[in-house]
Amino acid sequence: MRSGVAVLDFGGQYAHLIANRIRRLQVYSEIFPPTADPSEIEGASGIVYSGGPGSVYDPDQPDFNDGLLSLALPTLGLCYGHQLLCDRLGGNVVAGTVREYGTASMDIERRDHVFSGLNVTETVWMSHGDTVERLPEGFVTYGSTPDCPAAAVGDPERRIFGFQFHPEVAHTPSGMTMLDNFLTVCDAPRNWTMASYADQAAEEIREAAGDRNVFLLVSGGVDSTVAYVLFNRALGPDRVLGLHIDNGFMRKGETADVGANMRDNGFENLNIEDASEDFLLSVEGLVEPERKRNAIGRTFLDVKDRVVDSLSLDPDAWVLGQGTLYPDTIESGGTENAALIKTHHNRIDVIEEMIAEGKVIEPLAQLYKDEVRDLGTTLGLPDSLVWRQPFPGPGLAVRCLCSDGEAAGDLTDAEARVSAIAAEAGLSSRVLSLQSVGVQGDFRTYAHPAMVWGKATWETLEAVSTRITNEVRDVNRVIYLIVPSSPPDLRLKRSFLTRDRLDVLREADAIAMRAIGEAGLDGRTDDASDAVSQMPTVLVPLTTNGQDETIVLRPVTTPDFMTARFAELSPELVREMGQKILSLPGICAVLYDVTHKPPGTVEWE
Ligand code: XMP
Repeated sequence: MRSGVAVLDFGGQYAHLIANRIRRLQVYSEIFPPTADPSEIEGASGIVYSGGPGSVYDPDQPDFNDGLLSLALPTLGLCYGHQLLCDRLGGNVVAGTVREYGTASMDIERRDHVFSGLNVTETVWMSHGDTVERLPEGFVTYGSTPDCPAAAVGDPERRIFGFQFHPEVAHTPSGMTMLDNFLTVCDAPRNWTMASYADQAAEEIREAAGDRNVFLLVSGGVDSTVAYVLFNRALGPDRVLGLHIDNGFMRKGETADVGANMRDNGFENLNIEDASEDFLLSVEGLVEPERKRNAIGRTFLDVKDRVVDSLSLDPDAWVLGQGTLYPDTIESGGTENAALIKTHHNRIDVIEEMIAEGKVIEPLAQLYKDEVRDLGTTLGLPDSLVWRQPFPGPGLAVRCLCSDGEAAGDLTDAEARVSAIAAEAGLSSRVLSLQSVGVQGDFRTYAHPAMVWGKATWETLEAVSTRITNEVRDVNRVIYLIVPSSPPDLRLKRSFLTRDRLDVLREADAIAMRAIGEAGLDGRTDDASDAVSQMPTVLVPLTTNGQDETIVLRPVTTPDFMTARFAELSPELVREMGQKILSLPGICAVLYDVTHKPPGTVEWE
């Protein structure tokens, strides 16, 4: 490869984020499978071993070409990569007594090489079960946390380092300094910029399309809009057709806004199709999130085919364009060693088949949200579009939870353990029989939320939430009661995706979005620490009277959506939103999600 840093992808949720961070530090970076031949990596300035869902003593750990160990390059192992390096170089890895997810405080013992210029203690982001017990020869400890003595290790002589934590995620505040230090150790040339990406992407689109045209689904979000602009630039408006599908899962007034927005920005080649009936039919009676997601993804393609047909377009002359980003692929289990967290609508199996047949072009597939926003600005899109909160393709469908009314599993033990932890902080609690999707240690979870109530600061809630989700296996989220003031007796209710429920959710969502817009918390999230990156409003089938249901607010802050912190909104604003939503017909309680990602995901499904 050309000079830069090679990243070996062991399937960790953050493997590609490492390459993104290295590119942000203006060094070229390329991803390789761990089975790569050492000759492919020759010429690189350094190599990073990523994290992954595997365990080094597990028989089905990812295949790894041991020959890579003989490359005499500066090396950095992260999480699983750190464990693998320590194991293969003569150390020892064991299953940890405590699983660690979330932030930890690390004492730094050496401040040289990768740890140059750091503080005596640093906050780091952990997501692991196993730990390194014995170091390989020549290795010394660079940093340790109370639960992980070998949090950072290295052999400065051979320039091999290993971190149990993730410096690549934004929630390791000095992570970029550590990676920057590693690039300095590598002596890697700093010559990669985003500015050249637009030209390169346009060239690649022309090559991939050949003499075919591009048909693109345009949701109106930043990803599909940037892709749409790129396709228009690369091929010209006559060879591009945009289709905005109203799937019935849009926010209040969204489809009309998208149409107006596109026209205002000069795009005439956009069709709008109301297909809400088709989508509602496709999810009728479904409860399981993955089944809902697959049904919705398939319906997008059916509607697209119907429109292609009605416009008498030759299907062989048109390829599908998509604004898929890297996280969509990785969380859909779409790289060799990655676990499935959730199938994004643009990653269902029919699309995978079309990709294999060369019928899909995805010019943003290597990028993260922050890079796509940069690209949007480079392409001249206004801030109002570039900085919109992301909205998932399946829309409110993944924020409107369904249930067949039957409680899952025995929660007695979880209930007792949660209650003991909550009580220490002066809070009361209940584990709810509902389930939602989360991500822990690079794996998908489908577990229960614990509701807590009582007087508490955000700081206390963060500590309680982290302890509960780390220590109680059946719980992957903690939600805090806002209203009513006396704890409601919430029971599961048989509910599916219906227009009526979606209408209730749309109203609640509109209130919440308006409130944070008026508070000035919407929009750019990089220069205002209290800004909200995204705020799903979730309707959950928990009821006090068999009729009304519960709303959960999920405001998060995050630069890249791979990890996130719950947002700490002002208590007045939270109370005001809660009261307004509670006054809607059909709502009996409002709660606030106080779970980071991991262990919760941003969306509940
Ligand atoms: P999670 O819930 O995985 O969400 O933490 C991360 C980001 O991805 C968005 N998201 C989607 N976007 N199609 C999309 O285009 C999807 O199927 C999808 N599912 C989640 C989510 O809103 C958040 O910004």
